[in-house]
Order: sequence, then C-alpha cells, then structure tokens
Amino acid sequence: MGAFWSQLLPPRPTFTESNIPSLDGRVFIITGGNAGIGFELVKMLYRKGDCTIYIAGRSASRISAVIADIEATAPPTGTSATQLKSLIVDFADLTTISKAATSFLAQESRLDVLWNNAGIAQAPTDSTTVQGHEAHMGVNCLGPHLFTKLLLPLLLQTAKTAPSSTIRVIYTSSQIVDTTGPPDGVSLAEQLPGQHPTDKNWTYSASKVGNWFLASELDKRTRGDGLVCVVQNPGNLNTKAWDPVSPLAKMLIAPFLYEARMGAYTELWAGLSEEVTTQHGGRFAVPWERWHPDPRKDVLESLKTREEGGTGGAAEFWDWCEEQTKAYVS
Ligand SMILES: NC(=O)c1ccc[n+]([C@@H]2O[C@H](COP(=O)([O-])OP(=O)(O)OC[C@H]3O[C@@H](n4cnc5c(N)ncnc54)[C@H](OP(=O)(O)O)[C@@H]3O)[C@@H](O)[C@H]2O)c1
Repeated sequence: MGAFWSQLLPPRPTFTESNIPSLDGRVFIITGGNAGIGFELVKMLYRKGDCTIYIAGRSASRISAVIADIEATAPPTGTSATQLKSLIVDFADLTTISKAATSFLAQESRLDVLWNNAGIAQAPTDSTTVQGHEAHMGVNCLGPHLFTKLLLPLLLQTAKTAPSSTIRVIYTSSQIVDTTGPPDGVSLAEQLPGQHPTDKNWTYSASKVGNWFLASELDKRTRGDGLVCVVQNPGNLNTKAWDPVSPLAKMLIAPFLYEARMGAYTELWAGLSEEVTTQHGGRFAVPWERWHPDPRKDVLESLKTREEGGTGGAAEFWDWCEEQTKAYVS
C-alpha cells in the first residue's frame, strides 16, 4: 500500500493507554490540550497519574472548563494525583509567548516532553497573525518555535539527569505535506507581506512542512545533548479542525476520519515510547506509530544541508524563524 493510503487507512495502533510507562514526577506541556487530539492526549496522561500536565492555549475559560471536566470524570490510576495546570499563550501573537514560558519556568524545575500540538488549518485567505505573518505559518510555526526556544534550556537541563531519550520535543505535522504545497516544502518568498498565497491547503501544507523543518533543525542543533526531536502526523481525525472546510469536502473526507482519541496515539508513541530515541531525531512519524515509509523527495533534499548535497531549505527556514521572533524573546 502506498504512503498516501497507508496514512489514510493505517494499521491498528499498538502503543495505546495500556503502554504508557510510569510517569513518576514527570512534567509535560501539551499545547492545544483543551480540544481535539491534544485534549485526548491530556486525558490519557492524566489517567496514568503521577505527573504534572500543563495545558497551553489561548483561552483561560476553555482550559479551565476542560480541567474541571477531566477532574470530574477520570480518576488517575497512579499512586499520586496528576496535577493539571493551565498556561495561557496565543501563538497568533508573539508578544504572549515569553510571558507563558516565564510563568512555566517560575513554577517548574524540569520539563520532560513538550508536545507542540496546537495548530490551525483552513484559516481564512489573507488572515494574518498580530505581527502580520501568514496565519498558518505564524500560529503553526513561528509561535511554537519561539515557545520551544524559550523552554529549551530547561529541556536540556532535564535531559542531563533523566533516563536516556526520555526528554523530547514533539512537533505536529499532517499528511497534507505529501499531497500539496510549495516545491521544496516552504517558500520564504511567499511569507513576504502581500505575497501570501490564497490557497489555504497550500499555506497549511507549508506550515506543516515547517514543523518538520523545525524538528529536524532542533535535532541537529542539540545532537549530543540527549534531546529527542521528532515530528508526527497524528492522522485524519474528527475534530473542529475540519469545521471550516466546505460541506462537499467534509462529505468526501468523512469516511476517512477517525475519532480524536486515535490521533493521540501517534503523539503518545512519539512522546513516550522506548522505541523512539535520539537516533530518530528529525524523523517523521505517521499513524499509528510508524516512521514515514516514503517522504517527499524535495522535502528530504531541503532537510539536508548544502554540504550534505541538499538545498539547505530547512536551515534557511530555521534562520527565518529566528529572525522573525528575535524581538519577542523577552
Ligand atoms: N484533525 C486532523 O485531521 C489533523 C490532521 C493532521 C494534523 N492535525 C494537527 O493536529 C493538531 C491538533 O489539531 P486538532 O485536530 O486537535 O484541532 P482542534 O480540535 O482545532 O484543536 C486545535 C488546538 O489548537 C489550539 N489553538 C489554535 N490556535 C491557537 C492559538 N493561536 N494559540 C494557542 N492555541 C491555539 C486550539 O485552541 P482553541 O480551542 O482555543 O481554538 C485547540 O486547542 C494541529 O496541529 C493540526 O494541524 C490535525
């Protein structure tokens, strides 16, 4: 079966709730944990117990509501209660990110896994972030890049004493990277003001390749420090991410949408499975819990540096993200 169909109709998941290892005092951040796939991941970890989970999102009331919902319905099975906390951050506004990271760093002395899960799709044409970036690129890449950068010192510090390959940054991509988007994955020319493409699938795809570039470049920049950085496609799930698509498109995709819980399995595997190690840094996981069998060749070329015979597109993208976010570091 080709890579396209095997992601659309994946084999059965093998790493599920019953495979979650002891969480024993670990601290997690799940961005977008108040809805969809992120919410399902929060519930799975909460039920295991013995950990602290930060739900990072833009709406204090939506996060409080899901914390109350989870605490009322799903008692943890571990020896001590799971702590659920909120972290307010809007990835569409770079000025909110340092405050969120500072708040987290004031409360915690370790960070085990950062799941960069929050994201948008099908944003209205011409929509931008507060700072004027194309909306998908801003929310899905620039905001998470800055957030990760600010948390990186604590991740690296935690990795010094934690068991090997347990400290991780997980980016979230999509199957769309296989089907559409700019040649080489991301076009920086398209990010210039006034040059944003009007095709929402195109701009979403570019941002999701951007997530892969960020995972790969973070891996290259921290290799040897014990951090695992990978990206994953959670699958095609029935969440509110699909709300903006046309009724016809919804009808066509409906038979291939799985319940949101299934989407959390690849995130869970990428974040916690012993099968995933620093050796897999920069790789792209697909549902449920496998490495991509046949990634796009032009994107693979971008992931390689010029010295390695590639185009160096991912490194250029990283540098662009650094440039766009540097004014918001503190
Ligand atoms: N569903 C799918 O079929 C599918 C397929 C491939 C990839 N993905 C990816 O999976 C991830 C999760 O998507 P989902 O399907 O669970 O979608 P979802 O139900 O719409 O959840 C998205 C989450 O991201 C948060 N978010 C959106 N914009 C934000 C912002 N500006 N600042 C902070 N948080 C923000 C949302 O918060 P609010 O509740 O406040 O909006 C929500 O918690 C995304 O990265 C998406 O691209 C999904």
